[in-house]
Amino acid sequence: MAGDRAIGIHDLSFATTEFVLPHTALADHNGTEIGKYHVGIGQRSMSVPAADEDIVTMGAAAAAPIIARHGSDRIRTVVFATESSIDQAKSAGVYVHSLLGLPSATRVVELKQACYGATAALQFAVGLVLRAPAQQVLVVASDISRYDLDSPGEATQGAAAVAMLVGSDPALVRVEDPSGLFTADVMDFWRPNYREAALVDGEGSVTAYLQAVEGSWKDYTEQGGRPLDEFTAFCYHQPFTKMARKAHHHLLNTRGHDTDEDRISRAVGPTTAYNTVIGNSYTASTYLGLASLLDQADDLTGRLIGFLSYGSGSFAEFFAGAVVPGYREHLRTPAHHEAVNRRRPLDYAAFRRLHTRSFPADGGDHPTPTQTTGPFRLAALRDHKRIYERCQGHL
Ligand code: CAA
Repeated sequence: MAGDRAIGIHDLSFATTEFVLPHTALADHNGTEIGKYHVGIGQRSMSVPAADEDIVTMGAAAAAPIIARHGSDRIRTVVFATESSIDQAKSAGVYVHSLLGLPSATRVVELKQACYGATAALQFAVGLVLRAPAQQVLVVASDISRYDLDSPGEATQGAAAVAMLVGSDPALVRVEDPSGLFTADVMDFWRPNYREAALVDGEGSVTAYLQAVEGSWKDYTEQGGRPLDEFTAFCYHQPFTKMARKAHHHLLNTRGHDTDEDRISRAVGPTTAYNTVIGNSYTASTYLGLASLLDQADDLTGRLIGFLSYGSGSFAEFFAGAVVPGYREHLRTPAHHEAVNRRRPLDYAAFRRLHTRSFPADGGDHPTPTQTTGPFRLAALRDHKRIYERCQGHL
């Protein structure tokens, strides 16, 4: 509950990419024992965007089913959260607004704090709905995780977008007060404006994440939050799914709880099904965890979920959400499975070609090859402008 009013996630839909790289292909390329990927970091494959896909096309594809189901009459704000921004000035949300045909009387903005941005967007949305309960906010979290080839980060790439409709009397999850907050100025993962791939201190980033888990939980408790035992499941940010297990182990350990593997599996296991095959999706990752939990777990009606959203640099927020009775009637499980299963596998050489591809910065007319079979595509870069279109067959 936000104050006395029930506000939260009314609908949730995700989209990912045209292509997928199995970790077996990466392991064959670099000679890594596959157990390191499958068990050591808990990843099976990673989504790879086609040449004509980006955070806008994924974001629009994630949000389109929400607009189709609910219309746009009550949406007065679109908040786009991303780490992989495409423009220093213009919000990617404006392109999504246009592709979806949303009303002109809409506030559109982009938010950034590494992988945390979607939770900032969600909390921003809750505040707006608290002030104007008849309104709804469309939150879009969309990212392409990109590290240098042949670096340790290469195995933890991925891409996806999650769209959430936030409003009063939500059908899926009520967002509760309070939140636990934690900021620390650390250089664990960052991306200067001149770089397409992130820079990262791998080991340091894991330590910074765990420190942020501890700090945000401490503040959550001090703000009057619920005891650990009241939670059924925990949706952690998942740069790789093993990180969720490490985070929960650390939380239990620092609070003096038993850390047996079964307990950790029950709390985080059902949240990892999509992330383990999609890879890191930065801002979308925590909410892919929620999608996985709602789609896979036994009935969660009335159960409490803990959310731990981490953004390197760093900031973390812990908050609780309660699952609403009847939520199962509103899930998009078959569409989510289709989004994952429709991806076409790449071999490593094809993945590498896509990874190294970039647009010339000369302001010329640069059409993109037609690769995606999704509903939206980036058709060209022309006069320094990104040109998007709705694809044939999805008109
Ligand atoms: N079988 C089973 N397990 C194996 C194995 C095998 N054959 N070989 C190795 N392993 C295990 C290791 O023991 C290790 O497990 P523990 O962490 O439990 O000890 C695990 O596999 C990984 O091995 P390494 O630590 O040796 O792997 P690495 O040096 O290649 O680095 C990484 C791993 C740090 C995650 C690297 O992929 C990386 O830098 N990724 C990007 C950064 C990142 O994701 N950081 C996470 C926190 S920051 C964050 O969350 C924000 C964000 O989204 C970026």
